[in-house]
Amino acid sequence: MSGTSGKVEILQVGPYPQWDEEKLNATFTMHRYFEAKDKPAFLAEAGANVRGIATRGELGANRAMIEALPRLEVISVYGVGFDAVDLNAARERGIRVTNTPDVLTKDVADLGVAMMLAQSRGMIGAESWVKSGNWASKGLYPLKNRVHGKRAGVLGLGRIGYEVAKRLAGFDMDIAYTDVSARDFAKDWTFVADPVALAERSDFLFVTLAASAATRHIVGRKVIEALGPQGMLINISRASNIDEEALLDALESGALGSAALDVFEGEPNLNPRFLKLDNVLLQPHHASGTFETRKAMGALVYDNLCAHFEGRPLLTPVL
Ligand code: 8YV
Repeated sequence: MSGTSGKVEILQVGPYPQWDEEKLNATFTMHRYFEAKDKPAFLAEAGANVRGIATRGELGANRAMIEALPRLEVISVYGVGFDAVDLNAARERGIRVTNTPDVLTKDVADLGVAMMLAQSRGMIGAESWVKSGNWASKGLYPLKNRVHGKRAGVLGLGRIGYEVAKRLAGFDMDIAYTDVSARDFAKDWTFVADPVALAERSDFLFVTLAASAATRHIVGRKVIEALGPQGMLINISRASNIDEEALLDALESGALGSAALDVFEGEPNLNPRFLKLDNVLLQPHHASGTFETRKAMGALVYDNLCAHFEGRPLLTPVL
């Protein structure tokens, strides 16, 4: 795809799988921001002709980046979450933003449910029990907690929350949810308006909200304490939805039973307090990390950029 001076120039904020890199490099001139040592200098030098940003959900594009690119027209996000993109900065300049909804929904739900099962049944510890020889030397593995038939809460019944709830129904769970209002497609599930009340009636609480300034720390100390010493918190959304300090305090004191987390403040450099806990299951933000989904996400990032620069409608616009 070319303008007068050659290929359209794109700022690439993070790495992609090789199949995506090949396609992007064949069509565009990609400026590899993530490899630059001095990022502001890199933006000042390469930014003048950049017309697009290709980024990832957790990396986004902040105001400083957007403002450093005077010819920027479009930001294509590899991820459904666009909370790390400064939408106000984009809106002010009429910059378009796209994401990758739908294609990742079911994988994210699968991982959330898998984390609940793995943590509740102690599967990671059980494998160590076998591999360490404890099974033979010490005997049976300690008993763990049942999942089926228990009470589940889903905080945010959007696309991902809906798929989580559908899966939980297969485990005969008593399902409740919190959202802005009761959903007509959720007749078998109980609507609970208040997140604290939802946590109070839940053994397992799934956080599946799209993150924004309005949802920041929606899971605060009160929600965590309402979930209680027998409860489990599962987060497959964004770290900002949870007050992480309150979560760590509760996990350390036993005020919360356990947590299964795919996302962290400051990831991948998470708070070292998490690493000392034995009542957590920690995952490296890979809920969408299957070959099938990541290929579909990469295709959408590329197709949205092509659509924009060929003057066609965007496939999955946010702005
Ligand atoms: C990441 C995500 O984008 O969809 C989202 O919002 O957070 C993920 O899919 C993925 O880890 C790639 O960076």
